[in-house]
Amino acid sequence: MEANNEVAILVFPSKRFKLAHLIAALNARFNMNAKVPDHMTVPSHSTHDALEDERNQHIKIYVNGDIVPRDQAKVSVYDSGFMLGDGMWEGMRLYNGKWAFFDEHMDRLFNSCKAVSLDIGMDRAGILTALSATAAANDMSHDVHCRLMITRGTKVKPFQHPVLSQSGPTIVIIMEHSKPATSLQASGIRLATVPQVRGLPMSQDAKFNSHSKLNCVIACLQAEQAGADEGLMLDPHGFVNTTNACNFFIVRNGEVWTSTGDYCMNGVTRQKVIDLCRANDIPVHEKNYSLYEAYGAEEAFLTGTFGAQTPVATIDGKRIGDHDGLGPVSRRIRQLYADLVAENTA
Ligand SMILES: Cc1ncc(COP(=O)(O)O)c(C=O)c1O
Repeated sequence: MEANNEVAILVFPSKRFKLAHLIAALNARFNMNAKVPDHMTVPSHSTHDALEDERNQHIKIYVNGDIVPRDQAKVSVYDSGFMLGDGMWEGMRLYNGKWAFFDEHMDRLFNSCKAVSLDIGMDRAGILTALSATAAANDMSHDVHCRLMITRGTKVKPFQHPVLSQSGPTIVIIMEHSKPATSLQASGIRLATVPQVRGLPMSQDAKFNSHSKLNCVIACLQAEQAGADEGLMLDPHGFVNTTNACNFFIVRNGEVWTSTGDYCMNGVTRQKVIDLCRANDIPVHEKNYSLYEAYGAEEAFLTGTFGAQTPVATIDGKRIGDHDGLGPVSRRIRQLYADLVAENTA
């Protein structure tokens, strides 16, 4: 009985439990010398690591037409987004006073809102005006990341039915000074395959950039508990699909592979990478493949608006390729993408 108690204490050494902590605790308690795998000793990362910027403590935030200081930006506890995760959002970046791939982000947003009968109450030009006003109020024009959020609005009662959301939409725009942390380009991200999948369109279509990210948050927690940074999610058939926050690519024999797209976010960056490969004679395939092929890849990288292309260092503790940071094909794609963003925001 006593031994059981000891194990119970050791197994939960801290709230943020990590396998590395457990091994260290066991070593200390039982005078053992078990090795902590290398991929578990480096500090954890996320694909959204940004350089610290003090100015972000004093930003102004758009809330339904008002642009107010960060600590005054509030929505109701009856808001459909807060209560149910009933809303859609877009992450966009501003360079030289222009939103990169604005039309593509608006296509996705308006399609998603239409699919869930969420009336945004303004057209694309209205959204652009709201974005511009928020950027001007913050004196921001370059290296800015924005989270544009639209929910079904304030409910008259704390229940699920959409008919109870009667205020019209809640629209919030948060803009931050934002430069992705460069360290991630050198070290790469550590992925763990997780039990949580991004599933079939008839449960909740993975293409919805919905306020509720619980599916992805669960995947991220599972990855963290396995000692990795983020989760590599399979599709319902067991093929490699996506990560909890980005789209996923591998390179094999010089060819770029990504999932079919049936079960993952229709990422703007994902599509740009596919288009750039096609335009630049880099063989690219949207296809089913398994972990067997992912583990043996020469290169792997993630795509997303924030980090563009982020190298993958390990999957389930297995090192990908024999390079640090992006491999040669991924590096070429990253440069092509940077050129495209520059062209789009010139
Ligand atoms: C689950 C998931 N996959 C991929 C992406 C990347 O999409 P994008 O390239 O449009 O930023 C996101 C971004 O919101 C996401 O949440």
